[in-house]
Amino acid sequence: ISMRNALVIGNWKMNGETAANHTLVASLVESLEVSPVGSVEVGICPPAVYLHSVGLQLEGSVVSLGAQNLSEHNAGAYTGEVSAAMLRDVGCHMVIVGHSERRSLYHEDDEQVAAKTLAALRAGLKPVLCVGETLAQRESGEALDVVARQLCAAVSGLEADEFERLVVAYEPVWAIGTGKTASPEQAQEVHAHIRTVLVRVAGVAGQNVQLLYGGSVNADNAAELFAKPDIDGGLIGGASLKANDFIAICRAAA
Ligand code: G3P
Repeated sequence: ISMRNALVIGNWKMNGETAANHTLVASLVESLEVSPVGSVEVGICPPAVYLHSVGLQLEGSVVSLGAQNLSEHNAGAYTGEVSAAMLRDVGCHMVIVGHSERRSLYHEDDEQVAAKTLAALRAGLKPVLCVGETLAQRESGEALDVVARQLCAAVSGLEADEFERLVVAYEPVWAIGTGKTASPEQAQEVHAHIRTVLVRVAGVAGQNVQLLYGGSVNADNAAELFAKPDIDGGLIGGASLKANDFIAICRAAA
């Protein structure tokens, strides 16, 4: 029996505008108020420019606010960047770090992802650290090694108590936005490996780290993924933009 609460996070990516955000958030908040999901934790990560307005709308609700990225620097001459302290200041509780789109499109490497993970933790945010292999890496049998390498690079410098606020998301690159989901067995295999590595690095604290699966999770496949012992919830892209689908996924975690 695990002490880990289920966790479902919506990653809106670069989608949204004020009016549509308002409607989406209102539906989500209302649904969870009318029919609560118990111990399931729910979060949404809008684009940075909408954090403030979405945060105001979430006040007093059970849904927490997160960002999609942060700078590893504290402050200063970093045009276009947003710091961990700023994210805290506008009400964020968590931040996605090392998403594969940031790794591939914006060339974030393991070292930068480690620095961002640390910056998030030190500012009091929960980093949602993303790891995952490409299709080529899976086909050549490297999936577990790639994921373990990405994970170790980001967490080996953490203090024991920092693992209490860490969340890890396994997002196989070939399953992101493709409609192709890892099977529950494929996902569980990698999650179990992540768990083993975390326990090796952090001891018992590694047992309590929430592990999310991300990659084409939808209202139909969520329940069987979340039923696996090391899948504690999901990081949801496309389906988090549709209120009914996202609510159904939150309910599938209950
Ligand atoms: O971070 C969530 C993600 O990359 C998965 O996206 O659209 O396949 O659910 P999607």
